[in-house]
Amino acid sequence: MSKERKFFIETFGCQMNELDSEKIAGNLRHKGMEPAGEATGADVIILNTCSVREKAVQKVYARLGEIRKLKSERQDLIVGVVGCMAQLEGERILKKVPYVNILAGPQKGHVIADLVDRAADSRSPAIDLRMDEDPEPLETAFVLRESRWRAGVTISEGCDRCCSFCVVPFTRGKQRDRDSANIVREVRDLVGQGYLEIVLLGQTVNAYRDPSVAGLTFAGLLRKLAEVEGLKRIRFTSPHPNEFDDELLDAMVSCPQICDHVHLPVQSGSTRVLRSMRRGYTREKYLSTISRIRRAPRPIAVSTDIIVGFPGESEEDFRDTLTLLDQVQYDSVFSFKYSPRPNTEALELGDDVGDEEKGSRLTVLQEQQRLIQYNRNAAYQGQIVEVLVDGKARSRFALAGRMSNNRIVNFDGPESLLGHIVKVEVAGFSANSLKGVWIQQ
Ligand code: 5AD
Repeated sequence: MSKERKFFIETFGCQMNELDSEKIAGNLRHKGMEPAGEATGADVIILNTCSVREKAVQKVYARLGEIRKLKSERQDLIVGVVGCMAQLEGERILKKVPYVNILAGPQKGHVIADLVDRAADSRSPAIDLRMDEDPEPLETAFVLRESRWRAGVTISEGCDRCCSFCVVPFTRGKQRDRDSANIVREVRDLVGQGYLEIVLLGQTVNAYRDPSVAGLTFAGLLRKLAEVEGLKRIRFTSPHPNEFDDELLDAMVSCPQICDHVHLPVQSGSTRVLRSMRRGYTREKYLSTISRIRRAPRPIAVSTDIIVGFPGESEEDFRDTLTLLDQVQYDSVFSFKYSPRPNTEALELGDDVGDEEKGSRLTVLQEQQRLIQYNRNAAYQGQIVEVLVDGKARSRFALAGRMSNNRIVNFDGPESLLGHIVKVEVAGFSANSLKGVWIQQ
């Protein structure tokens, strides 16, 4: 029955969700279904969702509103809502959108095909929202990957931290780490298939502790992976500032395959706000970690996440964030308005910075950061850099590639360069990317 079905997956949210979608696709294809090029014409539509901010949840409901039309044209269309928002909202989704056929939490990639079968066979929705009593397997037999040269690899799931703004512990559960031998085996297989770059994924990657007798730390795991022959690039996301120790920095410095980039979410530049966010560090402690990174023998780019308008964030607290940006000189920043989330501790603090004020703080912050990035990118003018060519440029250029430090370089060249590491001379720049000329060799 499932043999003829075609599926279409839409992913909302982070890199981990993107990998989860590839696991879902792997499971569906293994069970005989085939990917459809678009939602129209698919027999199964899966929305793999995010719940980190209210906006992400609203986006999914808006999309479900659009899909209603497809559903009304085709009663047998199966629509699944899976991932973090499904875990968080649970059966409330069915109250709002009764036509939904499947609900499943994150890390259910290996059972989605079964849920599709169950939903097709019965009139009632197929639901799998179990969490704690049912720890999910960290090994995934089938992954249908989007890229042929960059692959995400799970090293851990869940998070043991309890940042007061964050919903993730309630959607992805407690931290579970994967055996290092299995991670190394997966990476070896990927390199054997021609993958050049792997991205190690976990909610707090540097809290990784190998559960096997090898007992590797995160730095130990990185060193082990750097021994895999043929692997060109290793990235990881995201580390927590508190566990960014010298062992990790030493591993980065001594293994050239590990990319020159660290995403180190700071969230706020005010120690008072950081305390109320339960981040576990002060502004000064964070800055001392940044100085250690800056003193490393090779340059390492640093990016971050910032929340503006956290409950109680005063003008002065916000200014502390702006001065932190000036001090650190980040290579890129993702910034968000605070969004109150269910179950989180910060809910009790209210939401006392108005939406308009959050908006204007966000604008001020982004303007300041634009200038910082513009100046940092200017320094690349005329340099010859290496990029992994990974897609079509969004701009008028034909190709886009990423430097080890995660900068995007747009340039013209033949499509045959896709999936190769090539040299490009930087001939222009903006705050967000570089422009280059391919150096034919
Ligand atoms: N409101 C706004 N931003 C949030 N983030 C996490 N939770 C919230 C929230 N409740 C941001 C943090 C995190 C990133 C992935 O999303 O900056 O690092």
